[in-house]
Amino acid sequence: MNAIEIRNLSKSFRGMYAVDNLNMTVPVGAIYGFIGENGSGKSTTEKLICGHLVPDGGEIKLFGKDYSDAGVRARVGALIESAGCFPNSSVRANLMMQALNLGITNREEEINRVLKIVRMEDSAKIKFKSCSLGMKQRIGIAMALLGNPALLILDEPINGLDTDGMRIMREILVDITQNYNCTVLISSHILGELEKIATHYGIIRQGKLIQEMSAQEMDARSRVFVSLKTKDTNGALALLKRKFGNAKLEEDYIRVYDVDDTEAIVKHLLDNGHKVSEIAKNKVGLEEYYIDLMSKKEDK
Ligand SMILES: Nc1ncnc2c1ncn2[C@@H]1O[C@H](COP(=O)(O)OP(=O)(O)OP(=O)(O)O)[C@@H](O)[C@H]1O
Ligand SMILES: [Mg+2]
Repeated sequence: MNAIEIRNLSKSFRGMYAVDNLNMTVPVGAIYGFIGENGSGKSTTEKLICGHLVPDGGEIKLFGKDYSDAGVRARVGALIESAGCFPNSSVRANLMMQALNLGITNREEEINRVLKIVRMEDSAKIKFKSCSLGMKQRIGIAMALLGNPALLILDEPINGLDTDGMRIMREILVDITQNYNCTVLISSHILGELEKIATHYGIIRQGKLIQEMSAQEMDARSRVFVSLKTKDTNGALALLKRKFGNAKLEEDYIRVYDVDDTEAIVKHLLDNGHKVSEIAKNKVGLEEYYIDLMSKKEDK
């Protein structure tokens, strides 16, 4: 079963397509990383899924039902742009207002549940305006979690967070998917962070989903490289380029791409008088994969 199934979704603003025949499949239980450059259509797609915008055409199914179905709508929580909280009210009061709006009956219990998930049980009395950015983002997630949604849609929730804030957010998202049966669609530009938790990826460009894959598939498609250090970096780099083709310098390390035979590399360097001080096999991460993919598409 898929949490989200989108077919040929389109949305234009003043004749310009922000979302252009987009297809997307998000399996239940996934943390789906939604990636694309500024203006590529991520927020618009998320707003369409949430029903904040009306599509020009196409189909959105959530848990197998049309997204307009009231039952299915009640299972979607979202944090798109800011949390929409009252600055002078406490965290708890803000959650209470939202719980009332949603018609939740066991409000106290539900608020305590979501505060616990976002680890803010001890900060419930703080006024919203006094909360740090990291706390505000977590309050936004708590708001979206009211009513126990099966699908959470998050638009760049880790933007501007410090290392610790990002780590907490990561742990919360993994907790939500693993322990609360919630699927997460998350857009982010911070690919190194996304990579630590995403189980699936969708890459959008000019309103079209140009690639969709599981984290395993991405790993299998990622280029391998050998990273190494020698004393005469420039000499060794020139030598390796001649023998193995694609090699470059990256922060004091020479990278030889698309070769995983470390022995052949070490032998070639030694035969030519270069000692290797460090060597390791690696795979390109999401960020490099993404940059590679984008540059290929630009070539076309
Ligand atoms: N309400 C609107 N009116 C007019 N144009 C809009 C509107 N919303 C979005 N757009 C346009 O649609 C395109 C896609 O915007 P969108 O906000 O979905 O991109 P994004 O991928 O979320 O970008 P970012 O990474 O900067 O958040 C952009 O060209 C944007 O200017
Ligand atoms: Mg956006």
